[in-house]
Amino acid sequence: MSSSGSIATLSAPAQRLMSVASHLHSQRSKVVVCRNLGPDVMSILEARPELDLVVWPQDSACERSWLMENISGATGVIVMLTDKVNAELLDKAGPSLKVVSTMSVGYEHIDLKEAAQRGLKVGYTPDVLTDAVADLSVMLALMAGRNGGTGVDLVQRGQWTSFSWAPFALCGPQLSTTATSPTRKIGFLGFGRIAQATLARLVPFGITHCLYSSNPSSLPNHARDAALTKQHKLQAVSKVDIDELARESDVLFVLAPGGSETYHVVNETLLRKMKRTSILVNASRGTLVDSDALAKALREGWIWGAGLDVVEGEPNVTIDHPLVKEPRCVIVPHIASATLETRVEMATRAAQNLIGAILGWEMPSQVDLSNVL
Ligand code: DGY
Repeated sequence: MSSSGSIATLSAPAQRLMSVASHLHSQRSKVVVCRNLGPDVMSILEARPELDLVVWPQDSACERSWLMENISGATGVIVMLTDKVNAELLDKAGPSLKVVSTMSVGYEHIDLKEAAQRGLKVGYTPDVLTDAVADLSVMLALMAGRNGGTGVDLVQRGQWTSFSWAPFALCGPQLSTTATSPTRKIGFLGFGRIAQATLARLVPFGITHCLYSSNPSSLPNHARDAALTKQHKLQAVSKVDIDELARESDVLFVLAPGGSETYHVVNETLLRKMKRTSILVNASRGTLVDSDALAKALREGWIWGAGLDVVEGEPNVTIDHPLVKEPRCVIVPHIASATLETRVEMATRAAQNLIGAILGWEMPSQVDLSNVL
């Protein structure tokens, strides 16, 4: 905006226009966006004259110092799961802040208590990534069971020439049932939307039983379980304790929220109870699995294999990480929701949540903070 000195030289109508524009400008809400969300979604934000966007300019994770510098006086912020939203950041933002919108279904990186104390709204992106994460969970189960990582690695290293087909070379446990092995029990640690979508994908593999353990405070849902049993023509869908889950599952999918309540729920005690032919899949948060215990379980053959989309301490997972060294551990770098379709939907939902909160409309997906304090 030009200085008032130059406005004085303009005609009266132009001066009025400038003054309206200046007033509108001062009314605009500052919004910090921690990552460029691509042309389709940035244009949704840019189309809102009420917003004054400040976007992290690089194609990399937003630097903390930049965020701390720019958050001051903001009304809203769109964050990624790599951006920690804690008291320090919220203090820096100040009393103008109304909404924190994350482009993720998980929100462990946001201190909900601090947000609730300040009366903030928190947006997240459930539902839109359910199918993509369920797809990848099945991929990881197959990759881990069928030596997918070892096989791909062998070919890429040019070692196929010295590996010839042999009756039992690179064999692993079969995910689908067979005439001689007609039972498959699939376990879920956490039985929300993504777990149920994963279950649906496994039905054509002939699975027979679904076992799950979920938040101990949530009551069993017998009607839902009976309906799923019927719908998928299974022998049973049952809530069991975690010991039974470990003992009985042929594949155990970890699909529960992260945070202190689920920290290292998959530990040495649990892994020692699992079948020697079983597979562990984690597509939720790395903190649920004790990496050292899992590496030991794989090394010593307590379980057959593991497929991981997430690892505690990511992205600092180097080639000397104990899990990377395990040939039966297939690891991909947190890409479960990484489909072209899903990421656009997640970014769109994050933008809609932010706009809704600032303009006083309904937020499509708002975290319930009513019981946080
Ligand atoms: C999320 O949205 O929390 C997922 O981990 C992203 O893949």
